[in-house]
Amino acid sequence: MAAPVVAFLLSALLPLSCSQWSDQLAWLYNRQGTDHASALADAAASTCPDVCDCPPTFPVAMYCDGRGLAAVPSVPSHIKYLYLQNNAITAVPDSALANATSLVWLMLHHNQLTSEAIGAKAFLKLEALERLYLQHNNLTSVPANLPRSLKELRINHNKIEKVTVADLEGMDNLSLLYLHDNAIADVGTSLKTLKSLMMLDISSNKLTKVPDSLPEQLHQLYMEHNSIRSLPESFLTALTHLQYVRMAHNQLTDTGVPANAFNVSGLVELDLSFNRLERIPSVSTSLQHLYLQANQIKEFTLGSFCTFTDVSSFSRLQTLRLDGNELSQEDIPSDSSLCLRLASAIDV
Ligand SMILES: *[C@@H]1O[C@H](CO)[C@@H](O)[C@H](O)[C@H]1NC(C)=O
Ligand SMILES: *[C@@H]1O[C@H](CO)[C@@H](O)[C@H](O)[C@H]1NC(C)=O
Ligand SMILES: *[C@@H]1O[C@H](CO)[C@@H](O)[C@H](O)[C@H]1NC(C)=O
Ligand SMILES: *[C@@H]1O[C@H](CO)[C@@H](O)[C@H](O)[C@H]1NC(C)=O
Repeated sequence: MAAPVVAFLLSALLPLSCSQWSDQLAWLYNRQGTDHASALADAAASTCPDVCDCPPTFPVAMYCDGRGLAAVPSVPSHIKYLYLQNNAITAVPDSALANATSLVWLMLHHNQLTSEAIGAKAFLKLEALERLYLQHNNLTSVPANLPRSLKELRINHNKIEKVTVADLEGMDNLSLLYLHDNAIADVGTSLKTLKSLMMLDISSNKLTKVPDSLPEQLHQLYMEHNSIRSLPESFLTALTHLQYVRMAHNQLTDTGVPANAFNVSGLVELDLSFNRLERIPSVSTSLQHLYLQANQIKEFTLGSFCTFTDVSSFSRLQTLRLDGNELSQEDIPSDSSLCLRLASAIDV
């Protein structure tokens, strides 16, 4: 829960710091008399719906969050940051945002949106939109015709069962995609074209296999709490930027994990806890954190970490968790410290 809370706080704070910044420049505006900012502030005051707040010091933002709204209020065309979260909004008809063509952030999380109640053209005109938050609604599919300009799409905690190529195709700047806590069984090749995607969270879904053709810029791949049994031979080799892989709480077995599937350099953290592994998979000497607790590992194989050791060839592992397996301290060979030089404590 910590990460979403921090992100939420950040998104609430950012406009505030902007408004403080423009406060400090207020003397400049006042001296000039009529200027762009005060004209905008006047426009904001006259067009702001009563139920919302449009701070004069930050006239491009409109705060309508947590007010029990059942529908999207009318949005003036100069608004860039729109906060509609924590309401009871059930629909976004095609006309609702038709005038809101300057939107850069649209926060619609924690509402009652269903896929049937979102117009096919509801988001179509938002050509400057960079962040769309739709998490914690009742969506069963990704809305049609999302702006291709998106950099961040959060649509986690819905009831989405499938992601198609058309949903995400052409989103060349999308760098963060939150799909976790849905009912997704299949993403087909929909992720392949996301050439800027760095962060994918598709944990807590119904995947039985790793998505085909993962995007090459990925830094973080979170797939825990699915039903993945096996992995393609070289599913990580093309992902040279990948640093964090989390696959805890799946159904991985030794036969499902090809010999060098996780032996890729660049990985910093690998979480394979709560699976059904009986052996420690081979990993690169550059890996720093390895989580293997709650598997069925019976043997401590030092060769999984080092094929040989010398002055420069040793494992960089700092964290190694093996508790909740069928191992005890005596199973760790005495010469393991030559290979695992940086692992101060090995949990068994
Ligand atoms: C959009 O702007 C037009 C013209 O100003 C106005 O008549 C209409 O009510 C606006 N629609 C919404 C949903 O705000
Ligand atoms: C959304 O889902 C919740 C929980 O499943 C349910 O209580 C609520 O009635 C749903 N709302 C709509 C508009 O379907
Ligand atoms: C991605 O960002 C670049 C640079 O800001 C911009 O020129 C381009 O139009 C954007 N791509 C899309 C699909 O919006
Ligand atoms: C990992 O792969 C490298 C070469 O790609 C190889 O030299 C090394 O022995 C492998 N590590 C393990 C533990 O099998």
